[in-house]
Amino acid sequence: MNAEGRSRLDQMPEWTALSKHREQMGEVHLRELFAKDPGRAGRFTLQVGDLHLDYSKHLVTDETLRLLRELAAATDVAGLRDAMFRGEKINITEHRSVLHTALRAPGSAVIATDGENVVPAVQHVLTRMGTFADRVRSGAWKGHTGRRIKTVVNIGIGGSDLGPAMAYEALRAYTHRDMQFRFVSNVDGADLHEAVRDLDPAETLFIVASKTFTTIETITNATSARDWLLSGLGAGQEAVTKHFVALSTNSEKVSEFGIDTDNMFEFWDWVGGRYSYDSAIGLSLMIAIGPERFREMLAGFHLVDEHFRTAPPEENAPLLLGLLGIWYGNFWDAQSHAVLPYSHYLSKFTAYLQQLDMESNGKSVDRAGRPVGWQTGPVVWGTPGTNGQHAYYQLLHQGTKMIPADLLGFARPVEDLQPHLVAQHDLLMANLFAQGQALAFGKTADEVRAEGVAEELVPHRTFQGNHPTTTILASELSPSVLGQLIALYEHKVFVQGAVWNINSFDQWGVELGKVLAKRVEPALTQGADVPGLDASTAGLVAKYRELHGR
Ligand code: F6P
Repeated sequence: MNAEGRSRLDQMPEWTALSKHREQMGEVHLRELFAKDPGRAGRFTLQVGDLHLDYSKHLVTDETLRLLRELAAATDVAGLRDAMFRGEKINITEHRSVLHTALRAPGSAVIATDGENVVPAVQHVLTRMGTFADRVRSGAWKGHTGRRIKTVVNIGIGGSDLGPAMAYEALRAYTHRDMQFRFVSNVDGADLHEAVRDLDPAETLFIVASKTFTTIETITNATSARDWLLSGLGAGQEAVTKHFVALSTNSEKVSEFGIDTDNMFEFWDWVGGRYSYDSAIGLSLMIAIGPERFREMLAGFHLVDEHFRTAPPEENAPLLLGLLGIWYGNFWDAQSHAVLPYSHYLSKFTAYLQQLDMESNGKSVDRAGRPVGWQTGPVVWGTPGTNGQHAYYQLLHQGTKMIPADLLGFARPVEDLQPHLVAQHDLLMANLFAQGQALAFGKTADEVRAEGVAEELVPHRTFQGNHPTTTILASELSPSVLGQLIALYEHKVFVQGAVWNINSFDQWGVELGKVLAKRVEPALTQGADVPGLDASTAGLVAKYRELHGR
């Protein structure tokens, strides 16, 4: 039974069995589950590489997990996984292989698509990136006027921005501290303006990151950056060579833009944008942390790839996390999933996951094009703890919504933290553990009363608890651990797409807005008549022109 022709998910006996099981569970509480099963805290943990996962604070029993694994078996998650790793064209709407796992495979691996082993090309680009990164880092690479590069500005959007920007923040402690790294994505000119206003063009390198090299935001910003550079240097087009490099699959468009293809680092159509930061798209990160650490990060990714590919279902962490998401989204009506990293360095982690998860699984037709009759990808959101605790955690604790959450933390702070700040790390982590406990077990009305709280305030000060969380701990946020974490989430998203029978690898949903924006622009600038503009939008365009003074 292939993925297109398989039975409808909600008609499978494994799905029905889960629905029944959910009904039987009724209003179960985590307090009860822990009381009945003292061994669950020890049993419901997994170790994958450096990642320790505690999933005991979930509304599941051994039976739930067994039924979820049966659903995974019935929907042939393992079959699609193996097809992905083998290089089959599982991105059926774009007729592409999905081979981001080849980006971090060892040089000796053989992974073929269209009859060609892609690994040598991957290694070749990595080596070129390494040579270039070393030259920029050491100052051997000089700008047009002979000065060394002090600032790298990555211009890209979506997968060509979020990955390197997130990983640069995450691994700041490992970066070349004498250099600056900035990331420009928004077509709002303010983004580029703020990024370059204090820079010296003679010491600035722009990395134009775009898989297609046609994305309007990126090409517009890159063109403006080139104007800024050339006018700042008072130089002609020849200065571009020393100050612009490109990361792309499209050498024709790169040349058209005026970037020498010798200064282009290639990747391939089998690397999805949101799965691309370990490809050439990671060049800014590689310059920041150095080629060796970049390779350590790739090894971290690969470790989890291998785990996902080979671990039995009972011990397979991405499978487990994917299935837990399905349990809540499809059987508990959860609409969103919070990712709450207790690390300031992971400030962009959740934003990165938003694209990974929501662009992959925000789909409403199955692989055969039929409307799905079940919920698919959740809204993913969150910010680093402890900041969120003083903002939206109120809703997590006492609101009416079911929001499963991931709590992420590290045993040790980064090595170069000033000694007087190291002690703060325990306080940070105490908050993580306290939140997991409070969310799961809450505080009963009787416990509140026992504290002598006035009766009319008891309901206000009671915490229902029963909010499920996964806790993910590692010793420290190293390049390898970051790779492990990202691969864990990539494969979790894969598992969910496989069960829901959707194509997690296209993103047609972003096209309509792009097309309409192109059509509306002449209406704003020239007052051109846009055929088919609805009355509300036409009114807004007219108001905009009036306010603008046109
Ligand atoms: O938002 C759609 C999208 O295609 C993303 O999937 C992609 O990461 C982003 O645009 C940028 O695309 P490109 O790298 O081709 O500029």
